[in-house]
Amino acid sequence: MISQTMQQAINAQIQAEMYSSNLYLSMAAYCESIAMRGAAHWMRIQASEETAHALKFFEYVIQRNGRSLVQSVGAPPQEWKALRDMFEQALAHEKQVTGLIYKLYEQALAEKDYATQNLLQWFISEQVEEEANTTEIVAKLQMIGESSNALFWVDKELGKRGASQS
Ligand code: FEO
Repeated sequence: MISQTMQQAINAQIQAEMYSSNLYLSMAAYCESIAMRGAAHWMRIQASEETAHALKFFEYVIQRNGRSLVQSVGAPPQEWKALRDMFEQALAHEKQVTGLIYKLYEQALAEKDYATQNLLQWFISEQVEEEANTTEIVAKLQMIGESSNALFWVDKELGKRGASQS
């Protein structure tokens, strides 16, 4: 059975992942409002990945005979200065999430909770991938600056993102 302290920490992470999902859905809505439909598609998929992350933790707590909780999350921002600003914020957010996952892992180490360590290994790899993907987009957007022609092509590329299982 999972410890009370670990259960509480994972429930807080479920809440954080649901906030991430809402944040990216809000970003999708912003992208639609500035006619960046490819980026909106990318953000919708990101939002559904975050819901999947929340569910992964949710099911895990239940599997360990614990009690999963659905808790309220704050409203995400709704406006950004531009696409580049929005992706920079997304990257900063992912770095924060990585910090949360590392803290959970440190707790699992301290509690000698090997099963949770195993689960978190997956999330550690996932964060490497998420940060790398977003870093690449930020780099492209920084490179093209204000060029609307190049922005059009980046948006088109973002629209090709396929749904993943994570
Ligand atoms: Fe669930 Fe983007 O980390």
